[in-house]
Amino acid sequence: MRVGILTGGGDCPGLNAVIRAAVRKGIFHYGDEFIGFREGWRGVLEDLTMPLTIETVSGILQLGGTILHTSRTNVRKKEGGIEECIETIRRNKLDALITIGGDDTQGVANALIQKGVPCVGVPKTIDNDLSGTDVCFGFDTAVSIATEAIDRLHSTAEAHSRVMVCEVMGRDAGWIALYSGIAGGADAILVPEKPIDLDEVIGQIQARRARGKNFSIVVVAEGAKMPASGGLATHGNEKDEFGHARLLGIGQYVADEIEKRTGLETRSVNLGHTQRGGTPTAFDRMLSTRYGSAAIDLVHQGKFGRLVVLRGTEISDIPLADAIAKTRTVGDDLLELGRGLQPVLKK
Ligand code: F6P
Repeated sequence: MRVGILTGGGDCPGLNAVIRAAVRKGIFHYGDEFIGFREGWRGVLEDLTMPLTIETVSGILQLGGTILHTSRTNVRKKEGGIEECIETIRRNKLDALITIGGDDTQGVANALIQKGVPCVGVPKTIDNDLSGTDVCFGFDTAVSIATEAIDRLHSTAEAHSRVMVCEVMGRDAGWIALYSGIAGGADAILVPEKPIDLDEVIGQIQARRARGKNFSIVVVAEGAKMPASGGLATHGNEKDEFGHARLLGIGQYVADEIEKRTGLETRSVNLGHTQRGGTPTAFDRMLSTRYGSAAIDLVHQGKFGRLVVLRGTEISDIPLADAIAKTRTVGDDLLELGRGLQPVLKK
């Protein structure tokens, strides 16, 4: 078969490992031919391709980023965009397209599936918020990077008797904040799922001081809402083609409030894109390899319109449309795990 592959949306550690696994299994076991579309859906729209062979996917398993490059191009926003994509797929004589991406990328794939284009999806996002899978690849790497950063913040916070506020990624869901916050022993973890309670945060910081500890760590997801307005902290008003604002500043806001209300010296650190860059963890390389291999198997089983997923320890697949129908947020049980480690404050 002739199979196209694209990577769309924000990059994510493990993208190259997915590409490599699909190409190697496809060539060695099924005799497939592959072409890669460059820069996500832009590559399909504009027919920007590159060869994917055993040679071109060699040596990429451990590399961050994506050899195909990526973009946040939303072809549904372009007049005739979907039709252009269908034409590109026809011109390249493709039998299938593997779409590696999060909800935006898979949303476009779903629109093409409705028009009869044979797509198979692979769930990618460090935010870990796609429904139907227990884990998206890239999440483990992002959590590892954030946890290491929080560990490092401990020593400088302690040396200066400061409060350190660490802003991590997580637009609609607080998975990275919760996992890295618990793994890094944070005193407070603030997520998009729950309104920020600054009284509670400050109460925990003061309770800790009363226990004789001279520093505190607060982890906040970029998508946690501003307490006064309930809105997002953003950088400018610009939105990308999928309507997302650039999130930035909730960490600084929380730090300023803590300092103002407690008089304790407070600093804010935004980990930003360091969480998405660099080499994937062994866990993510393994998961990506399983996903890439399963995706090409689905192509050969003719199971189009499906997304490969991890359920427990098993790789499985679900309708792609189900994965994008709603965001997978952090459940109350896990949020309670974080809160349960902190003292109950008297109101
Ligand atoms: O979609 C994943 C994500 O990492 C979000 O957590 C973050 O808000 C966004 O991407 C940043 O996107 P960009 O790299 O386009 O600024």
